[in-house]
Amino acid sequence: MDMDKLVSLCKRRGFLFQSSEIYGGLNGFWDYGPLGVELKRNVKEAWWRDMVSGHDDIGVPPGAPEAYEMCGLDCAIIMHPQVWKVSGHYDLFHDFMVDCRESKKRYRHDHVRGRWVSYRDQKIFVTTMAEPDHEQAEFQQKALKFFNLRGKDAEQLQWDGEAVSLGKLKPPTSEVLGPDAKALGTLTDPREFNLMFKTIIGALGDETDSAFLRPETAQGIFVNFKNVVDSSRVSVPFGIAQVGKSFRNEITPRNFTFRSREFEQMEIEFFCHPNSSHAWYQYWRDRRFQWYLDLGLSRERLQMREHHADELSHYSTGTADIEYAFPFLPPGEFGELEGIAHRGDFDLRSHMEGKLDPATRPLQVELGPDGKPKWRGSGKDLSYRNELTNEKYIPHVIEPSAGADRGTLAFLCEAYHEDQAPDDKGEMQTRVVMKFHPRIAPIKAAVFPLVKKDGMPEIAQEIYRALKKHMVAYYDEKGAVGRRYRRQDEAGTPYCITVDGQTLQDRTVTIRDRDTLEQWRVKVDDVVDEIRKRIS
Ligand code: GAP
Repeated sequence: MDMDKLVSLCKRRGFLFQSSEIYGGLNGFWDYGPLGVELKRNVKEAWWRDMVSGHDDIGVPPGAPEAYEMCGLDCAIIMHPQVWKVSGHYDLFHDFMVDCRESKKRYRHDHVRGRWVSYRDQKIFVTTMAEPDHEQAEFQQKALKFFNLRGKDAEQLQWDGEAVSLGKLKPPTSEVLGPDAKALGTLTDPREFNLMFKTIIGALGDETDSAFLRPETAQGIFVNFKNVVDSSRVSVPFGIAQVGKSFRNEITPRNFTFRSREFEQMEIEFFCHPNSSHAWYQYWRDRRFQWYLDLGLSRERLQMREHHADELSHYSTGTADIEYAFPFLPPGEFGELEGIAHRGDFDLRSHMEGKLDPATRPLQVELGPDGKPKWRGSGKDLSYRNELTNEKYIPHVIEPSAGADRGTLAFLCEAYHEDQAPDDKGEMQTRVVMKFHPRIAPIKAAVFPLVKKDGMPEIAQEIYRALKKHMVAYYDEKGAVGRRYRRQDEAGTPYCITVDGQTLQDRTVTIRDRDTLEQWRVKVDDVVDEIRKRIS
């Protein structure tokens, strides 16, 4: 699938717009249009319904070690700054970046890709930020310009090795031609850059009043663990879920909404007994993988990548990423949709005792130069007592952490199809159709009168109003009916209902299936039930 086509459809049909577009846009920020907002809400609502509100607290779900409870939270975006010091985000949440002294641009070190090229006796490492599909063309253009050659001289360039990330190769900076530079050696050495957005609290605030926009929703759950246990009578094992905005000052936001600076997460912190934590980890990774399949992502484009032992924090006995083969990635590469991590007791202990040093075993509080905790914890007891056995322990945590925007983007990519369908004259034409799963489709049904006369609009409006009580429906009486179908195909509407001449005689209408193009007749009074049955 050609990503450019999807991006243009998203703008043309109102799924996604660049933020502040009339002022030239703001890199890394996106706005959801009328169709996009419905789609993303449906993704978040499906997640909340399947994980939280629809969860059966008393039965044992298939694959689960035992019954468990689920509840939700909605925490503030700005939290006490100590939260981020204790969680490790203040010290560790960094990316490496390089600056270009010539172009004054800043790049994420591992996102700059380059290739060795020689001409006569000079060898340089030419770099670009272009997408993989276009990078060789960019390398060549830049190398020709640097060596003062014309297009017809391209064979005189000697390429050495494959394109690699600057972060992996580390060539001498004096031999690197920066992505937007004309001269060699303009890139600085990589420097660390904290990804948290800083803000100041209060009108008279200074640096000592600075706080951060949360880079994840998870910490709000950990710091409310005791509140939830004390107020809701949940007992371990149980999960707390939260959906909300997170902010990361990404150095190189890219690939449409995939890496944004403002995005939404759907996170669960699942608290369990240490002895059963590995079984719960297995349960959650399988359960979350299946969720994406159930909502229509294809098995060929979805994979579960279990982290190797050397990638894991030593307090974790497992982490897996659910990944999707986004079309903007080179063939064979996958991008992360969700991570499922076994986090042990790291987070609750940190918020009790102070920031733990992840390099210690067993985990110990990290000390500052004065021998005191570098970042003090809350000092509150965040352990759990089992009322039946009286056992007291710090629960272990399994964290399924999903991105609502990345999920929505994957559903958009998966849905995009081009096929052939007959137009109003019966001639086959290419049609663009978004094959969303009916649960997440922005509009569930559209209603058309075949013509704007003979009482057809009145019957169509009656059906439209009846549907509207239950779902997002759309009424359209403008233009040829074939064009109305095309518009709904592009919006991903699974069912179109048409009132025609026969309706006036027998009060039946046609329902057209978006994917199969099959049409069948049902009674006007049965339309709502028929559509509800099909989209549930
Ligand atoms: N609490 C764990 C955590 O935040 P993460 O892997 O950093 O883990 C979880 O983020 C999910 O959030 C990712 O799998 C991804 O779907 C989403 N996400 C992270 N950074 C993002 C960004 N810059 N833009 C869009 N989504 C992002």
